[in-house]
Amino acid sequence: MSALGVFNTANLNGGQKLGLKYLTVSLVLFGAQILFGLLAGLQFLLPDFLFGVLDFSVNRTLHVNALVVWLLYGFIGGVYFMLEDEAKHPVVGLGLGNLIFWVLTAAVVVVVLVFLLVQVGPGDMSSIWLINEGREYIEAPRWADIGIVVSVLVFFYNVVATFAKGRYTGIAGVLVMDLMALAGLYLAGMAYTPNISMDQFWWWWVIHLWVEATWEVLVGCIMAYMLIETMGVRRKIVETWLYIEVALMFGSGILGLGHHYFWIGTPEYWLTIGGFFSALEPVPLVAMVVHALFDSGVHRMKNNNHPALAWTISQAAGNFFGAGVFGFMHTLPQINLYTHGTQWSASHGHLAFFGAYSTAVIGFFYLAAQKSRGNVWMSGNLPGNGWKWKWGMAWLWIGMIGMTMALLIAGYEQSQIERATEGSTWMGYFEAQAHPWFQQAMTWRQISGFGFLLGYILLVWDLLTIGKGETRPAQVIESEAH
Ligand code: HEM
Ligand code: HEM
Ligand SMILES: [Fe+2]
Repeated sequence: MSALGVFNTANLNGGQKLGLKYLTVSLVLFGAQILFGLLAGLQFLLPDFLFGVLDFSVNRTLHVNALVVWLLYGFIGGVYFMLEDEAKHPVVGLGLGNLIFWVLTAAVVVVVLVFLLVQVGPGDMSSIWLINEGREYIEAPRWADIGIVVSVLVFFYNVVATFAKGRYTGIAGVLVMDLMALAGLYLAGMAYTPNISMDQFWWWWVIHLWVEATWEVLVGCIMAYMLIETMGVRRKIVETWLYIEVALMFGSGILGLGHHYFWIGTPEYWLTIGGFFSALEPVPLVAMVVHALFDSGVHRMKNNNHPALAWTISQAAGNFFGAGVFGFMHTLPQINLYTHGTQWSASHGHLAFFGAYSTAVIGFFYLAAQKSRGNVWMSGNLPGNGWKWKWGMAWLWIGMIGMTMALLIAGYEQSQIERATEGSTWMGYFEAQAHPWFQQAMTWRQISGFGFLLGYILLVWDLLTIGKGETRPAQVIESEAH
């Protein structure tokens, strides 16, 4: 243990050291995601910009894949970070876990370089194996898929073996089952079929069942740990909520999958199943908000890490609005008929991913920053009144809400002109894209994107400096938890 306020990995246990590596790469990839998002957004305004050099398709691929990878790195980092604390046992197989971190990260770098430098290939299996598998969000080529599966197995082994040797808590139980489902689902996105309906059918097993079932539960586990750590919330209460949320989430989210089967050539009964179950999906999200408010209220907001708690609370709100409200808006087939695949979906996609998942990972960044400086003070009265984290958070949210609203307006306009008035014709598509409301919305998305970038810069600056030179130890929270 080094002096307070000095960054030193000696402050961390083995799992936390490895977790910190994952979290660091996660933060860097978050920056890459923003960069490629800004480039893709600019190409909406200036279609010739970088044409033939870095095409929209490539920027978009890098933008959404960086998103998935930085969030997964954040989750894996978070799990390693809490593992020893939760299991009260050193990570089993830590050496292997460290090795896999480097292998996986090298593979990510190679995939990004291939996306950037190769960009096109022949229309046969060699492209699928070596360049791009062509499924949105999980475009990594087949060789990388196999590498990812192996890496995840090692991660899974670390988690299960550590809990098995140490303490097996309620959070541990939910986490292990969930990781099993999460890893298993990835396999559904690996089997290529030339039938586009079948291909989409399985692809959604990964995308939907990740974000609307397994990721939600994973984030629930991470949040549960955060609440115990930062507020000293009683384990029994946190775990009870977790069980309720998991039951509700799986109860609605699994068959909610049907909201992606409305128009891809699947049988008609999916209209009813998808509409009904996905309409129930906001229910667990309401439970999560109630849970967060309940815990904060009981503990009168007393906590040892202001930024981490602020991001945790904004997770509950962001998840509810982004996934629950914005998802619900277009989930009934009668509405989705008009909104499907418009910028409306992108509006929901941005707010949901940011609100439910980015917030949680950012909260964890702050916990890691605190612990790696020897568990320093991060409550009130930070130097400068904590302006960096506050403004960082404000700009990230202003940027995100600005983008989401701009996209929602564009989506409304597309639904009206392309779908309702022009009856989904090819001409209608172009007419909607050329409309001034659409174009103005794209401009506002870009302006908001730069605001978001400003927030990111402040966030990184803050994470690198918060707690530096701080001599007060973390506020002691009466913990009834352990
Ligand atoms: C955190 C959880 C969620 C995330 C991260 C998320 C993200 C996304 C994303 C990125 C898309 C666009 C997919 C594409 O590229 O085609 C999408 C589509 C969709 N989402 Fe969500 N979503 C979440 C939760 C929900 C919930 C709870 C509902 C319903 C209540 C919902 C309803 C929908 C529907 C209906 C579509 C299809 C839109 C279309 O037809 O184009 N989502 N979601
Ligand atoms: C500077 C900030 C950002 C800009 C300028 C930006 C821009 C874009 C653009 C231009 C696209 C392609 C849309 C299309 O194909 O029509 C896109 C897609 C997407 N972005 Fe962003 N983005 C930004 C930040 C983010 C963040 C922070 C997240 C999530 C945390 C995110 C999640 C997504 C998702 C999920 C999609 C796919 C949506 C869909 O297919 O419906 N983006 N973004
Ligand atoms: Fe979905």
